[in-house]
Amino acid sequence: MNKTPRNLVRLGREEDIDEIATIAIQCFPGDFANGTSGEPDIAIAAEWVAHRMRLGDYGKYIVLEAERCVLGYVFYLLVAGVGGVLQLEQIAIEQGYRRKGLGIKLILTSEKIMREHLLRRFGCKLRKVYLTTSAENHAAHRLYAKAHYARYATVTKLLWDVDEEIWVKDVAQS
Ligand SMILES: CC(C)(COP(=O)(O)OP(=O)(O)OC[C@H]1O[C@@H](n2cnc3c(N)ncnc32)[C@H](O)[C@@H]1OP(=O)(O)O)[C@@H](O)C(=O)NCCC(=O)NCCS
Repeated sequence: MNKTPRNLVRLGREEDIDEIATIAIQCFPGDFANGTSGEPDIAIAAEWVAHRMRLGDYGKYIVLEAERCVLGYVFYLLVAGVGGVLQLEQIAIEQGYRRKGLGIKLILTSEKIMREHLLRRFGCKLRKVYLTTSAENHAAHRLYAKAHYARYATVTKLLWDVDEEIWVKDVAQS
């Protein structure tokens, strides 16, 4: 499919858990490996997503939906209390729908949703969003640069066996 499907970006809901988990294991198979078989396990991913969804106002899944299917998701965690700092923990677009502008739409629209959420729920402004990403994930780096994040530091093997980069968006400056 070459056309960009008609889509909307909205808060994730419990009924999205299985679709989010399916994309999660496709995009991050090593993160959801079964300790015994070593294979990506949908049940592990679904449980992980379900737990994060229970964070309520303190962590939000935001999904990109088209024709009633979830094609991508992003997860934000409130960090350092409620001072307006978020960690973007994961962003992913289903494989067959990449390079159509969905990732940039998801990251920019979800930031607006989180900004409104922080203001409405905690009366605080969104100040910063940060994320970590593998130093080898050049597609993601280009997405983050396009969304006005800046590379902040590289930490040797922070999470896995490859170096991890920290990217920050200073929303007050952007
Ligand atoms: C990173 C990811 C979310 C991008 O989603 P996407 O829908 O393809 O992104 P977009 O089409 O909106 O592209 C936005 C920009 O990102 C860059 N980009 C995206 N994919 C790219 C690729 N494969 N190669 C080079 N640049 C790429 C481009 O600069 C692009 O802008 P352009 O089309 O004007 O050149 C997607 O590739 C993905 O889900 N990857 C697997 C999961 C992952 O690695 N997530 C990030 C780590 S948490």
